[in-house]
Amino acid sequence: MFKNILVPVDGSKFSTNAARKAVVIAQKHGSKITLLHVVNHSQLFSMGPPQSLPVITDVMIDGLRSGGEKILADTLKAVSPAAVEVETELEWGMPAQVIITKARDGFCDLIVMGSRGLGAVSGLLLGSVSDRVAKLSPCPVMIVKDN
Ligand SMILES: Nc1ncnc2c1ncn2[C@@H]1O[C@H](COP(=O)(O)OP(=O)(O)OP(=O)(O)O)[C@@H](O)[C@H]1O
Ligand SMILES: [Mg+2]
Repeated sequence: MFKNILVPVDGSKFSTNAARKAVVIAQKHGSKITLLHVVNHSQLFSMGPPQSLPVITDVMIDGLRSGGEKILADTLKAVSPAAVEVETELEWGMPAQVIITKARDGFCDLIVMGSRGLGAVSGLLLGSVSDRVAKLSPCPVMIVKDN
């Protein structure tokens, strides 16, 4: 039923937990899983010294890229060994927008993601990314709570 499952991950315990649940679903359905991390490029504009014009350097870009690659490698390790095909993908952009665009392009037929992420400080049930994806995704979204 589900051929391609998209699992957006941010390195939080919530998204790692979601990835584990996705593996269980994939095993039942013979699905392929793609772990996707979106590097939020707006971070680049807040990295320079305060009260200066934003200067984006290769070092900053490399730092964000290697941070994203580490998130993907750590999540892959956390779900290994999985008896299903698991790929990783790194993209740049606004996380919710990138996830929704991929779903609209027919990349996946199910999204499995965490209810909250690294920014889980308030008492809200959903973070801004899971809230937006749940509202705008054209395909089913499974939101995994950390319990
Ligand atoms: N940069 C990202 N790339 C891929 N998936 C992400 C990214 N950020 C969040 N997600 C996915 O969205 C889920 C919910 O995270 P979200 O960012 O919405 O919550 P939060 O960090 O608690 O809140 P907020 O970011 O709004 O302060 C995560 O568990 C993960 O599955
Ligand atoms: Mg977040």
